[in-house]
Formats: sequence, C-alpha cells, structure tokens
Amino acid sequence: MTPQEQHQIEIQKNLRSWQAKPLLQEIYAGFYRRIIALIDPQLPGRVVEIGSGIGNLKTHFPAAITTDLFPNPWLDLVCDGYELPFIDGSLSHLVLFDVFHHLRAPNAFLREARRVLVPGGRVILFEPFISWASYPVYGLLHHEPVAWKEPINLVESLPRPRDYYAAQGNATRLFFRREIPNWPAGWNILEARAFASFAYLFSGGYSKPAMYPGACLGAMQRLDMLLSRWPRLFGARCVVCLVRA
Ligand SMILES: C[S@@+](CC[C@H](N)C(=O)[O-])C[C@H]1O[C@@H](n2cnc3c(N)ncnc32)[C@H](O)[C@@H]1O
Repeated sequence: MTPQEQHQIEIQKNLRSWQAKPLLQEIYAGFYRRIIALIDPQLPGRVVEIGSGIGNLKTHFPAAITTDLFPNPWLDLVCDGYELPFIDGSLSHLVLFDVFHHLRAPNAFLREARRVLVPGGRVILFEPFISWASYPVYGLLHHEPVAWKEPINLVESLPRPRDYYAAQGNATRLFFRREIPNWPAGWNILEARAFASFAYLFSGGYSKPAMYPGACLGAMQRLDMLLSRWPRLFGARCVVCLVRA
C-alpha cells in the first residue's frame, strides 16, 4: 500500500469517528479555543495549518488555509511542512495540530517556518503531553511510539524521500523537559502549557469507544481543570507557541 493509500484509509476512519462522536467534537472545540487564543490578529499575513487531516480548524477559524501532505476535497492546498509553497515573510501563523510529533527533523521544519513567517510570526503546536498518567495511554493504547529515549534528529534539512515518522514524546521532551538546552535557537517560547485531559483520554479519541457518556463531559472537564495544576503527574495535552525572533 502506498503512503497516500494508507493516509486515506486513516482519514476516512477518522472522519467516520468524528461524525459519529459529538463528544470528541466538543472536546476538540476546547482544544481549538486554546489554539485560537494564541493567534495575534494584529500580525500581517495568513494563518496556515500544516497537516490538517480532516480539516477541522476551519470550522473554528474559517480564515485559515488548510493543507496536508495528501490531497482531499476539503483542503485548500497540498504541501509538505518542510517545503512550504509560500513566499518569504508572507504568513502570520503556522498551526500544527498533532503534526509536530510526525516531524523527524524539527529544526528543518523550523527553518522553513522562519522563512515564510513575518518577523514576530508564530508557530502554534498542539501535541500529546507525556506525564505519569498519560504515558500508559499513549504508550500502550496508541499505535504510534512515544519514543521517550530515542535521539531527536537536529539536522537543518531533510532530503527526500521522507519516510513515516512518529514520536509522541517529542514536544514534552523538547519544550517541557528541555532536553536540548536553549532550543530552538532564533525563537522565543511565548507559551508552553501542559494540561490534564482525562476528558480526551477517556473519550477514546478517534480510534477507541468512549468510556463515559457525553452527559459527564462537564464533570470530566472540571476534574481536568483541577488536575491541570500538576501537569507532570496528570498532563495529557500541551500547547506551545513559538515566536520568530
Ligand atoms: C495525526 S494527523 C493530525 C491531523 C489533524 N491535524 C488532526 O488533528 O486531526 C497528522 C497529519 O500530519 C500530516 N503530516 C505528517 N507529516 C507532514 C509533513 N511533513 N508536512 C505536512 N503534513 C504532514 C499527515 O498527513 C496527517 O494528516
């Protein structure tokens, strides 16, 4: 099976879960609110999402340009995060929702991001957060590796062909554990916030059935708010905002 065929199977499966699961849609609405709160409307240039998948950002932020490696009718563009089809200094924000952990060479992506963003432009990442509570879920119940001890490739360019890569732990390691001191050079970290999301973990996400009824979502979210005081213990998701220095 080609990578595109594999992608389409996954996309169709995600689309079916999304449509059948209002619970997931509500949880994601909260995630998108966190992302949109980090968009600075004063910055000139368009907001572009990389790796949009089923393209949900547009529902919450219609002005976004949605893109992915592979074409789909709801996307605006096909493009690779390592080679963006935009002229220098033309974009205000790049949004990556569950995409950063698929970037084998984060520096190569950030180099390209730096080229297309205006000075002060932002990269907003939404990612899994690895804590004592979430590690077993991401490690045992999700098919992608956490790759907690794997080296992170710091090359500045990644030639083609680029194979599939996933390392769910990378954002936690780079932005919270700060495994590479002073990284990323040339960027300021405006925000790096991890929070509990048992509402998400127990929703089963796209691939598993929900473990609680939709009527309990409010209670789950209140619990998450409380437990978010201890992200290293209970965190499950994180949002990071980098500003081009
Ligand atoms: C886990 S999915 C997330 C999809 C969507 N953002 C969401 O939250 O539902 C990762 C997406 O990133 C895309 N992707 C992976 N590597 C990419 C790259 N180098 N450039 C652009 N998109 C990429 C994949 O095709 C896939 O759609």
